[in-house]
Amino acid sequence: MIKTPYGLQLLYGAEEIRRRVQELAREIRADFDGSKELLCVCVLKGAFMFFSDLVKHFGDNVTTAFIRLSSYRDGQKSAGGVRQVGRFAEPAAGKDILIVEDIVDSGFTLQYLIRYFKKRGAASVRSACFLDKPHNRAVKIKSDYTAFTLSENRFVVGYGLDYAQKYRNLPELYELKA
Ligand code: PRP
Repeated sequence: MIKTPYGLQLLYGAEEIRRRVQELAREIRADFDGSKELLCVCVLKGAFMFFSDLVKHFGDNVTTAFIRLSSYRDGQKSAGGVRQVGRFAEPAAGKDILIVEDIVDSGFTLQYLIRYFKKRGAASVRSACFLDKPHNRAVKIKSDYTAFTLSENRFVVGYGLDYAQKYRNLPELYELKA
């Protein structure tokens, strides 16, 4: 058990996550015929664990790249701005892109990324997200593939997601309770 002034309440265990991610990976793989390279883009930092579990199931003709974004937040809420940290050097023109996100919350980050890759001439842009949080959506956007959807507005940590940079390493997903 983790020692914290907050309570961590388990939402999805490691085995449940493993099974769902495998199922989602199969669904994604079936939609790409494999004749063309698929460029999988991990959105750092939060998606690192989901990304690494997901791409293991993709076989060959897949390349990987990493983009670091940061959204401006007012407390726990997105303030709408998305900032790219560092340069994304991978050519995207003519490629099928799969954006791999940990969370779609307000939707600003995913909207930014779809526009970003379309502007760079990608042949197609799709997205996979680990967790959909529809309650705070500010833009009309939905990920093409979603592992889990939260039915209530909870603050979650673990499986890549942080609170003040902590808990990202946990293999389970928890609600952080004050
Ligand atoms: C989080 C999360 C998503 C984004 C989603 O990133 O990882 O990328 O917010 O929020 P949105 O739908 O409201 O735009 P954050 O900026 O907290 O950075 P991190 O991934 O490094 O934790």
